[in-house]
Amino acid sequence: MSDKLNISITKTAQSRLADIDFNNLPFGKTFSDHMFIADYSDGTWKDFRIVPYGEIGFSPAISALHYGQAFFEGIKAYKHADGNVSIFRPDKNAERFNLSAQRLCMPELPVDIFLKSLETLVDLDRDWVPSKANHSLYIRPFMFATDPFLGVTPSATYKYIVLTGPVGPYFSKNLKVKVETFYSRASDGGFGFAKAAGNYGGSMLPAMKATQEGFDQLIWTDSKEHAYVEELGAANIMFMMDGKLITPSTRDTILKGVTRDTVLTLAKGWNIPIEERRISVAEIIKGIKEGRITDAFGVGTAATIAHIAEIGHEGELYTLPDPAKRIFSNRVLDTLNELRYGRSADEHGWNFAVRSESSKD
Ligand code: PLP
Ligand code: COI
Repeated sequence: MSDKLNISITKTAQSRLADIDFNNLPFGKTFSDHMFIADYSDGTWKDFRIVPYGEIGFSPAISALHYGQAFFEGIKAYKHADGNVSIFRPDKNAERFNLSAQRLCMPELPVDIFLKSLETLVDLDRDWVPSKANHSLYIRPFMFATDPFLGVTPSATYKYIVLTGPVGPYFSKNLKVKVETFYSRASDGGFGFAKAAGNYGGSMLPAMKATQEGFDQLIWTDSKEHAYVEELGAANIMFMMDGKLITPSTRDTILKGVTRDTVLTLAKGWNIPIEERRISVAEIIKGIKEGRITDAFGVGTAATIAHIAEIGHEGELYTLPDPAKRIFSNRVLDTLNELRYGRSADEHGWNFAVRSESSKD
């Protein structure tokens, strides 16, 4: 990656690090000392800067607020036992960042700028990366439209910002999930494959209703028939059935997860048969009833590997095998932990080392 990008750095006068309770880190509530900002205007990205984390000003007429020209990414950085810090597969997120940008008529961000912004920011706040098991620094790059104009048309100006914050596990327990058969997360021809802010806004009411019914999360199904499994909340979904790893094939309604790709790559390396295809809800229910489904879990950056303990569908509740005894998902979790925390060889080159400012030539 090029070191040429000129980033101005304004350090905080007073770090907040000493005030943080690293033993109590609910997801997404704690932010590190600094953030990265860049502006887009006249067809180019400019004014690359790192400033203390804090509020920013903009017009109340910006089109991101009115028409949802906004999207984001989610990435994690891990601290190794030797103190080094690495970011997990940020090149994949850089690619997806630009897919989201294209779908929302927003400007792409060159991959080297994306990677450099992450590396410089995480390097500056490297003391914020937790060293505790199952903890990491969550990185949230996002872009939004900033034209103060109420016409429904792509903005000519944008902001790119990166926030970071130490996090513990997103889910603290095994999940009781409901198969959603009324609402949809995404529809054919829509933008479910993009990490558009609007996808998440639209998911909140169905998720809240499921919570009121005693469920933790939703299994999203296709919007036409609600007959095929698509995703699990803000994560992809996988099952082990008859010794085969099965997961919905990606399409325009499904986010192509980095963790999904990681788990499939590991499974291939372990010679586990894989099927990426349409999976009907009926097939899953039948598989559970016949004891052929031995594992079911969500996979995502925030979620990591989230075991599904129970599935509710049309008033019935189906119980899956004890998560603690599941072989595949627990092997994946262990393997990923070994790799991300630098305890095993990085055969696939997935750990992107964060070089410290002093070590760069
Ligand atoms: N699906 C949705 C809707 C998500 O929000 C996420 C989270 O990023 C994922 C899947 C998993 O993607 P990844 O593994 O890249 O985090
Ligand atoms: C992530 O896994 O990074 C996500 O984007 C999920 C998030 C919406 C909490």
